Amino acid sequence: MSVCLGLFDSGVGGLTVLRSILHRHGPLPTVYLGDTARVPYGSRSPSEIRSIAAEVVAWLKVQKVSTVVMACNTTNALARDVAEGQAGVPVVGLIGAAAAMVRESRVGVLATPATVASGAYRESIEALNPGTMVVQQACPRFVPLIEAGDLSSPELRQSAINYLAPLLEASVESVILGCTHYPLLEPLLRSLLPPDVRLIDPAEAVARQLDALLGAPAPGRPDFPLSLGQTRLCVTADPDGFALRATPWLGGRPRVEAVTLR
Ligand code: DGL
Repeated sequence: MSVCLGLFDSGVGGLTVLRSILHRHGPLPTVYLGDTARVPYGSRSPSEIRSIAAEVVAWLKVQKVSTVVMACNTTNALARDVAEGQAGVPVVGLIGAAAAMVRESRVGVLATPATVASGAYRESIEALNPGTMVVQQACPRFVPLIEAGDLSSPELRQSAINYLAPLLEASVESVILGCTHYPLLEPLLRSLLPPDVRLIDPAEAVARQLDALLGAPAPGRPDFPLSLGQTRLCVTADPDGFALRATPWLGGRPRVEAVTLR
């Protein structure tokens, strides 16, 4: 079977994972699904998230992907087993990969309410690094604002200040961006954190993890713009809005298809 990656997220967040993978591995046959009709996932119940994951992965399977990349921490936290059961092909997730990147003894995790409530990050980090102090913070305002195209308003900045306060109080040495939307806020978060606090983007570990499937990356690849030639971008609602929001991140306005999952 030739390689075709299937990535999914609730919206634009998973593009941060796609971007890391394409930066490292170059153009690849890829199907990306942004389930924009149901964003945000992170305020939904575990049973809703599990049935969404089953439906999305079933759709990717129909697209004949050879590997599923869960470009969404919320479904990774609550429905990894569902995705594995449904996919029939290898499934790559973010949370274990991110936990393996932790070297510090005090770690903050910013994530959606559902991911925080699941305790998946805490468990994975503690399993790999016993004795690590993990401070989790749910950030319910971030995804709706990012999906509305806001990366810098006073409201977003105030939310970020509030969400970072408990992490700063605990003197964390690193902060995991435990939702794939949050790397889009990296400049804002960086400006609010002491310079020695490391920001961890799990997507980097996912891209490295794919070396086993795709081989080691060619050196000297230009970072920008990304080559999307072999990527299908699909959404369940508002393809034009998605294309507009994705443009700065992808280095050009992409073609986006509207799809129905059922
Ligand atoms: N970007 C996803 C995540 O990594 C989902 C965010 C949401 O829809 O709430 O958790």
